[in-house]
Amino acid sequence: MVRSYSTEPVDPAVVDLALHNATRAPNAGFSQGWAFLVLDTPDDVGLFWSLTADDVDHPDAWLAGMMRAPVVILPCSSKAAYLRRYAEADKGWADQDEARWPKPFWDMDTAMASLLILQTATDAGLGSCFIGVPADKDAAVRRSFGIPDEFDPVGVVTIGHPASGGVAGSPTRRGRKPVADVVHRGRWGTQQEHRPSPSV
Ligand SMILES: Cc1cc2nc3c(=O)[nH]c(=O)nc-3n(C[C@H](O)[C@H](O)[C@H](O)COP(=O)(O)O)c2cc1C
Repeated sequence: MVRSYSTEPVDPAVVDLALHNATRAPNAGFSQGWAFLVLDTPDDVGLFWSLTADDVDHPDAWLAGMMRAPVVILPCSSKAAYLRRYAEADKGWADQDEARWPKPFWDMDTAMASLLILQTATDAGLGSCFIGVPADKDAAVRRSFGIPDEFDPVGVVTIGHPASGGVAGSPTRRGRKPVADVVHRGRWGTQQEHRPSPSV
């Protein structure tokens, strides 16, 4: 994740490719219950930060770095679109009972689409960062940008050219868990057999 950007513009073709790739994310029932709000003008990006940040006139280092990103994308999910899709004949959940859903696939799929946006930016030599919309600012963001009730922003992706001076992320304050600590082969909690680490 990159938290400091230069003001150099982002090639719109990269943004278009990122959005194209986003729509190739895996998604349950090919529901495609997602939408992407793209903010790529100084006015719109400025409005976003003025709505969500505590003090845009006196930004801390994190906010100052993030606010320079020329492109901000809000991936949004639609639970209603999934309920409707799974009520179709080939899925058969005509009652649209939410209790049937083992997990909120609408948010999961939109999160996977978000990762493809992040990866596309990285492939293009750009920086990007995923953050959430503060819960108490969600309504203002929706109202200001006309997000329909049916859609929920699952987060925010900033895209731009990386600059120095970014605020360090959480990985500088806590260690990465060893793979062996988080992988359970065959049974949860069994002693891990030693395997050579992949050379990556
Ligand atoms: C759901 C989610 C919310 C996040 N929120 C923030 C955030 O509010 N501020 C921030 O600086 N980074 C945020 N991050 C980025 C994480 O801090 C970062 O992915 C994690 O520390 C691992 O670092 P890396 O992605 O650079 O490897 C968020 C990431 C995710 C997936």
